Amino acid sequence: MNSEKIEIFDTTLRDGEQVPGCKLNTEQKLIIAEKLDELGVDIIEAGFPVSSPGDFHAVSEISKLVKDAKVCGLTRANKNDIDVAAEALKYAKRPRIHTGIGTSDSHIKFKFNSTRETIIERATEAVKYAKTFVEDVEFYAEDAGRTDNEYLARVCEAAIKAGATVLNIPDTTGYCLPEEYGAKIKYLKENVKGIEKAILSCHCHNDLGLATANSVVGAINGARQIECTINGLGERAGNTALEEVVMVFRQHKDLNLQTNINSKMLNEMSQLVSDLMGMPVQPNKAIVGANAFAHSSGIHQDGVIKNRETYEIIDPADVGVNASSIILTARSGRSALAYRFKNIGFDVTKNELDYLYQEFLKIADLKKEVVNDDLNLIMEAFARKVV
Ligand code: KIV
Ligand code: ZN
Repeated sequence: MNSEKIEIFDTTLRDGEQVPGCKLNTEQKLIIAEKLDELGVDIIEAGFPVSSPGDFHAVSEISKLVKDAKVCGLTRANKNDIDVAAEALKYAKRPRIHTGIGTSDSHIKFKFNSTRETIIERATEAVKYAKTFVEDVEFYAEDAGRTDNEYLARVCEAAIKAGATVLNIPDTTGYCLPEEYGAKIKYLKENVKGIEKAILSCHCHNDLGLATANSVVGAINGARQIECTINGLGERAGNTALEEVVMVFRQHKDLNLQTNINSKMLNEMSQLVSDLMGMPVQPNKAIVGANAFAHSSGIHQDGVIKNRETYEIIDPADVGVNASSIILTARSGRSALAYRFKNIGFDVTKNELDYLYQEFLKIADLKKEVVNDDLNLIMEAFARKVV
């Protein structure tokens, strides 16, 4: 059975860049946009052009630069935002306007002091207006995660009638459980008239640590676009991490879903974004964290040395990491120590290893990690003893 394509919509430069401390200048945004294009993302959300002259300029420059990906600009559901976005995107080979409005009762009441019917009218007008500039219009129903499904279906229907090509169903507050989010996408697939004219998109936030799970379950239930960021950056606890969803589909071929991403670039991409944004990646971050392929307990190390697949489901080379690493700590065993001695040029016998291991433990109990310099010192002391 042929796999179905999931479009990857990268919003590192919009939702990701909104994070305090992650602000980038245009030059840095251009470096990231060019790399994202090379990585194989289908859509780059380049910014929110009306938000500042700097963001307008960046979206405009990114539009000129990007060769393959669609370039998208965010707007609220009003004419001025859409005018400004259309202007910023005018050089893009494949421009997309991303417009929308809050649809949950809480947004309708507290943000807009409005009614459900008026929100549908505003959504319709915004999509129709955006359509006068570009063919490709994505509509977002902000806080769709907390919007009741029946009303959400009516909003989506109106957006499609007005010409939307993509319907974004954001779990803006990261509230949904995977089962609930999956059911929402399924409900829309089955109940929105004209749904075959548009694709559904997942935009999940990570407030409960469920963003990746929700996006994957959304795709399983029929969404064909996932909005995500490098390293999972984004408002509050962040967005779905691009590297995670890409590798879920790669590792679970049984899902029959695939992306266009060159996974071998994931590690380099993560480091580039982290360096430019000055936002370190947590060491235990899935796929791209420093410890994602590091083994430190004796039991695991012994298994990995015998066969990597005993404790690794991903070949590090597939995400651009040179090799798995064996970290020496007081929890390491003899096989890891022998392996590391061999790596630095010492082939030790079993008897020698018994002795060296006791010397190693003395140091390991005093330090977080035993490094090659420590091993060399142990070996020098051992050589003196033997002579
Ligand atoms: O989280 C969200 O709802 C958003 C929209 C603006 C798409 O970022
Ligand atoms: Zn968001």
